[in-house]
Amino acid sequence: MSEKISVLIDEEQLQERIKVVAEQISRDYEGKCIHVICILKGGVAFMCDLVKRIDVPITMDFMSVSSYGSGTSSSGIVKIVKDLDQPIEGRDVLIVEDIIDSGRTLSYLLKLLSERKPNSIRLCTLLDKPDRRVVKDVNVEYVGFNIPDAFVVGCGLDYDQRYRNLPYIGVVSFED
Ligand code: IMP
Ligand code: MG
Repeated sequence: MSEKISVLIDEEQLQERIKVVAEQISRDYEGKCIHVICILKGGVAFMCDLVKRIDVPITMDFMSVSSYGSGTSSSGIVKIVKDLDQPIEGRDVLIVEDIIDSGRTLSYLLKLLSERKPNSIRLCTLLDKPDRRVVKDVNVEYVGFNIPDAFVVGCGLDYDQRYRNLPYIGVVSFED
């Protein structure tokens, strides 16, 4: 079986939208320093594009989590594979993710990181699949694109660890 990738959001649309989101973030955090927390590995490519366009001071840290679940859905039981290097107490934290699906991963992460007493904590995701949301209380301040319920790859998102390097977002379909 092989995969076919069809373009959903092309490179130009992606970069234009990321610029707009970065401008909004820069305005909202004027006079502050943003502590950007990238969720590995999916959030990396988006974070790199985003932070280059933010013009307030930022610091960066990385966290890697795995959600256990059957098939293509996460369970909400999240294991920390790599924790942050630095404390976040008193900092203005911006979590950067690739995609929100059920919302379980971010709901768990939000709870966990809030207990570490940041000054503020907000979420930024490149993609959102609102139709798939199970956890309703996840408030996302910055969304690149709302997309329909399809499995997508590119700009950090993978299928079986591949396609993270695609400069566009594509929908995966399978053929014999
Ligand atoms: P959630 O806990 O269901 O919100 O799971 C979110 C995580 O599932 C994301 O961080 C991705 O790693 C993964 N994921 C969800 N949808 C897709 C997709 O369409 N393509 C690739 N990864 C996805
Ligand atoms: Mg992810």
